[in-house]
Amino acid sequence: EMQRGNGLISYNDLKNYTAKQREPMIFPYKKEYSIVTMPLPSSGGVLLPQLMRMMEGRDLRAEGFHSVASIHLMTEAERLAYADRAKYLGDPDFFKSPVEKLISYQYLQERMAGFNPDSAGNSEQVKAGIIPESEETTHLDTYDKEGNAVSITTTLNNWYGCKTVVGGAGFFLNDEMDDFSMKPGVPTMFGAIGGKANEIRPGKRMLSSMTPTIVLKNDKPFLVVGTPGGTTIITSVFQTLINVLEFNLSPDDAVNKPKFHHQWEPDALYMEKGFPDTVISKLREMGYRIEPRSAIGRTELIQISPTGSMEAVADGRGDDAAEGY
Ligand code: DON
Repeated sequence: EMQRGNGLISYNDLKNYTAKQREPMIFPYKKEYSIVTMPLPSSGGVLLPQLMRMMEGRDLRAEGFHSVASIHLMTEAERLAYADRAKYLGDPDFFKSPVEKLISYQYLQERMAGFNPDSAGNSEQVKAGIIPESEETTHLDTYDKEGNAVSITTTLNNWYGCKTVVGGAGFFLNDEMDDFSMKPGVPTMFGAIGGKANEIRPGKRMLSSMTPTIVLKNDKPFLVVGTPGGTTIITSVFQTLINVLEFNLSPDDAVNKPKFHHQWEPDALYMEKGFPDTVISKLREMGYRIEPRSAIGRTELIQISPTGSMEAVADGRGDDAAEGY
């Protein structure tokens, strides 16, 4: 049919096409339902949970089937969800969509905050939701067949550095001065305090927490690891190493299992979600001030076996990626 109609699809295109098996999108609705549907590249797998969740806390039944109020509410939810579709969704083999964020209750609540029960929204004013950049520094690891390993962390410090692009050169200027200790007791933007050792001086370099790291085992590269994350960089690398070297976790678990962070001041133990309640309450009883924290680091890890095969893990906390060839 392609040849008959001067179509563009060749025999090889069809031969190379493979069906992909994917994990379905499964999400709960209210207490008693579990909804199973098609994931990306169908946007249904993102928009359906978005829409259902935008309705979940509202009493649609009281508004009534086909009432003006229910049609209005459902329409405005659709307007918002489809605006996100246009900006954030595509084939996951090519584009990393922030699915988790897009279907989170908190995000959807914020999206619906502008809902006006009395008047129609306006698509010119409604845009896709804003998914803020995470604390940003860049880390990458690489390893090649000759046994060369590289671990690089590079930093602008704050988001977009000092927000000035060098004209024509295409890069941002950093705001690294904040990594100095401005004066005793005054914290950096990452809450780190310091004194004379890290005071500002001409020609002096500021203290960093960057920890690009290579672990050799019997003199051969074994782990290549690092992360962004301000002061949490060091604890993220530390815990990832201990997870592999002492707790024998898989590279994936070593990176993705919840992490915790303490930096002396403030005197708080920051913990990601996922620790057992029993552990948290025992730590509290011991006198720790526990602060929940959304993401500690975005760690990248390559683990190399004695035969040279490797496993690379990109942190699921961000839009990180691992590739090999
Ligand atoms: O060198 C440092 O320690 C900081 N400039 C790192 C900042 C950072 O990781 C921010 N992004 N996550």
